[in-house]
Amino acid sequence: MAPLRKTAPIGVFDSGLGGLTVFKTLARRMPEESLVYFGDTAHVPYGSKSPEAVTRYSVAVARFLAAKGIKLLVVACNTSSAVALPAIRRAVEVPVVGVIEPGARAALSVTHGGRIGVIGTEATMSSGAYPRALGALGARVKTVSQACPLFVPLVEEGWWRGRVTETVARRYLAPLRRARVDTLILGCTHYPYLKPVLARVMGARVRLIDSAEETALQTESALEKIGLRASSGRRGRRDFYASDAPERFRRLARRMLGYAVPQVKLHAFDS
Ligand code: DGL
Repeated sequence: MAPLRKTAPIGVFDSGLGGLTVFKTLARRMPEESLVYFGDTAHVPYGSKSPEAVTRYSVAVARFLAAKGIKLLVVACNTSSAVALPAIRRAVEVPVVGVIEPGARAALSVTHGGRIGVIGTEATMSSGAYPRALGALGARVKTVSQACPLFVPLVEEGWWRGRVTETVARRYLAPLRRARVDTLILGCTHYPYLKPVLARVMGARVRLIDSAEETALQTESALEKIGLRASSGRRGRRDFYASDAPERFRRLARRMLGYAVPQVKLHAFDS
């Protein structure tokens, strides 16, 4: 591998559009860094697929981004971070930052009663990755997990608030309310868009954890540790790829980022 340069981009990968929540935070915190985003729109949703399929898709995307000369890879997708991180780390030579450990860390920094709720896709919840990450950080906490598969389509449809979304949220979150969690990890890329609804349903005393900030912090410190932070002064490049329907990606990205994405390039995989 050629030596990595400070000006090389950071790769950001998600199953689709949701990872733009992490992209947006990275771009705001580190405007001088170049970012190349890949949405695997041909295979989304990952959340209802087997760990084997998610791993296969994730490794293919990671290799594609590595070939673009990235200096670090952020796996913004919770499902991929939950089931495929070891395989991704074996497949590429650059440092890899996932979103599970940063989310767990952020939850531990705010919980006051040690009762942590976790919501995410079916695959993330059945992997047990969040309780494991909390345990690995030495925490003695009670966790209550709940898969919320309807949240992703609701967000992509633009139904970020309103009666239907609130009804769905009340039903999914009832067990977490009964368990009186004091902190709720939003363990899926899309859920930050539902924050106002989730906050209303859970009540003001429950802290909502969106791992994007903590992930950006870890990315920053990982780059500093290897001496590869871009110099400030010039704004970095922003590149976007999707494995299917780039125009749809572009349309939804505008809504999710709050600004227009100039171009989304298509890169289709064989499978
Ligand atoms: N990006 C996925 C996650 O964070 C949600 C969408 C999907 O199921 O692929 O888990």
